[in-house]
Amino acid sequence: MYYGADYYPEHWPRERWATDAQLMQDAGINLVRLAEFSWAKLEPYEGCYDFSWLDEALDLLGKHGIRAILGTPTAAPPAWLCQQYPEIMAVERDGRRVTFGMRRQYCPTNETYRALSKRIVTAMAEHYASHPNVVGWQIDNEFGGHLARCYCPSCLRAFQEWARARYGSLEALNEAWGTVFWSHTYTSWSQIPLPWSTTPVSNPCLELDFWRFASDQWVSYQQEQVNILRALCPEHSITTNFMGFGFQDINYYDLARPLDFVAWDNYPVGTANDPAAAALSHATMRGLKNMSFWVMEQQAGPSGWQTMSRALKPGQIRLWAYQSIAHGADAIVFFRWRSCQFNTEEYWHGILDHDGQPRRRYAEVSQMGQELARLGDRLVGANSPKAVAMVFSYDDSFAFRLQPNAVGFSYPELFLNYFRAFHRLGIPVDVVSPEADLSPYRLVIAPTLYVLHQSWVANLRRYVEDGGTLVIGARSGVKDASNRVVNMPLPGLLRELCGIEVSEYDALGRAVGSAIRFEPGVIESAEVLCPIHTWCDIIDPLEAEVIARYAEEYYAGQPAITRNRFGKGSVVYVGVMGGNQLCGALAAWLSRQAQLRPLLATPEGVEVVARERDGITYLFVLNHTDTEQIIEVPYPCTDLISERRYEGRCPLPAREVLILVAS
Ligand code: GLA
Ligand code: ZN
Repeated sequence: MYYGADYYPEHWPRERWATDAQLMQDAGINLVRLAEFSWAKLEPYEGCYDFSWLDEALDLLGKHGIRAILGTPTAAPPAWLCQQYPEIMAVERDGRRVTFGMRRQYCPTNETYRALSKRIVTAMAEHYASHPNVVGWQIDNEFGGHLARCYCPSCLRAFQEWARARYGSLEALNEAWGTVFWSHTYTSWSQIPLPWSTTPVSNPCLELDFWRFASDQWVSYQQEQVNILRALCPEHSITTNFMGFGFQDINYYDLARPLDFVAWDNYPVGTANDPAAAALSHATMRGLKNMSFWVMEQQAGPSGWQTMSRALKPGQIRLWAYQSIAHGADAIVFFRWRSCQFNTEEYWHGILDHDGQPRRRYAEVSQMGQELARLGDRLVGANSPKAVAMVFSYDDSFAFRLQPNAVGFSYPELFLNYFRAFHRLGIPVDVVSPEADLSPYRLVIAPTLYVLHQSWVANLRRYVEDGGTLVIGARSGVKDASNRVVNMPLPGLLRELCGIEVSEYDALGRAVGSAIRFEPGVIESAEVLCPIHTWCDIIDPLEAEVIARYAEEYYAGQPAITRNRFGKGSVVYVGVMGGNQLCGALAAWLSRQAQLRPLLATPEGVEVVARERDGITYLFVLNHTDTEQIIEVPYPCTDLISERRYEGRCPLPAREVLILVAS
């Protein structure tokens, strides 16, 4: 498999390159990502190209058995370009134009920028199409980072066109957006505004469409580069680097569609105490195309721009890189090879320190390099076992940021709480789109489906009729596809599936706690109060049986969670939101109902994840704690890293990793 680093030869004197290549080779590195910010080096003056330095670097690296994925350099337009074509600079929500001095300053809609981008990408693609050391392309870098939505005149015109294409007529648009309110009715397409900050609270229908439009602009900007690369470099793979679960300003399902595989940038240092957070990002990235992926930037040292994170403890670089592989990474590329001596990212540390000396981090990367060389390609392409699917919707992410409904409500937090509960149990979870084929899963959880498309309901219904267990959370079915509230009892189009109606609700807010009590027999500690927060749906359980009731407030005793038998399956409606206790109790109960068993029962802090290929299950066991843990291996296994045998009670040292296969 590919194992590598993000390398910036242009940051270092040429005399150093050979030392770098040798150190890389010694560490087992066989791939680098190059050039994604080097437009000013590749085209120092308009129309005047210089590929010599990159050719030289590629040739030198090639002599050490190191191949390359090239970045198209469009994330960092050079100073000459920004001066010559000021109209390409993005405009912020407050109407101010971005100035030169960072990166990602451009507007993806602007035709001039699109033309300039096509020109440099074409020049690069022509030059490197048949280079023996180039394996593929990373398009641009982290689309949407720093500035996800542009409010410039090009975007204004394009948004009006986008709206015309979507709604066809002004009558349809006015109806869908509810513009009769406050005299918003549009009588010409050219009247449609952008939600500039001078409109502090704009129409949520218009604004959701603007967010969708902005997402579509990145997708279509990317597509222009995909088209060039596909035509000129048919042998090369094409990807871009995504930003995990945490970045939700682009509909990543759309962005992933034309790519050969997804790659993403993984910096777990901020969530080191919650391995479920990185796991959720991996699952989300894997789910975009339901296939293995690359990590294009994997944490290699302490990170930060003005201030630094804590140091990485011995074993942590390797542990997190193996966690990536466990969840589906087919390639690990560390960010970055050597810590930079200048500019914004001086303190974002690489494998080597600023002085270029190999120290502890290099030793750890080398150890893993030798281990991966022994493993070979057996894991490449291996996918996750199918057990639980969690449905994630970018429409919901957009819509909830515009209107959180309850004070402090966070869709990502709600999602992570459910994910963490199954992750903690050692039950595999995929994150999928509402349109995904759900048939491989025993259990499907939609923590909420707020902006609900008709076709999604049909997909869910089919799944349940065929015997699936579906969980639907509060605030589902509230909005139609244009973000208007539906004219139906809640949960709207999901009423029949859930067999209930929401008769009333109470938006507690994130800071306000309440409690529910499970019905006898549901969970062992049924008498114990289970804390909840944020939201209470008071449920009229028409067809459904009651699973839990409120323990507080004027609605104490009323249903909070229900289950409805439907077709060959069942639908659980969860009218409340909560943290680890609620989601933990639900995960335990639901896995019993769906007869899902943990991959391996492990102590707190020991993660267990599996990949499958050619009928073999690779069980990754990762000790994220700082102390030795005891695991129970129920059948004889071999650890592919150490080649040692494991069975029964076995110690697992702090931050250690096993890849177990039955033997
Ligand atoms: C992102 C970018 C990199 C670099 C790192 C560290 O992931 O893709 O270019 O900026 O962050 O800040
Ligand atoms: Zn713009």
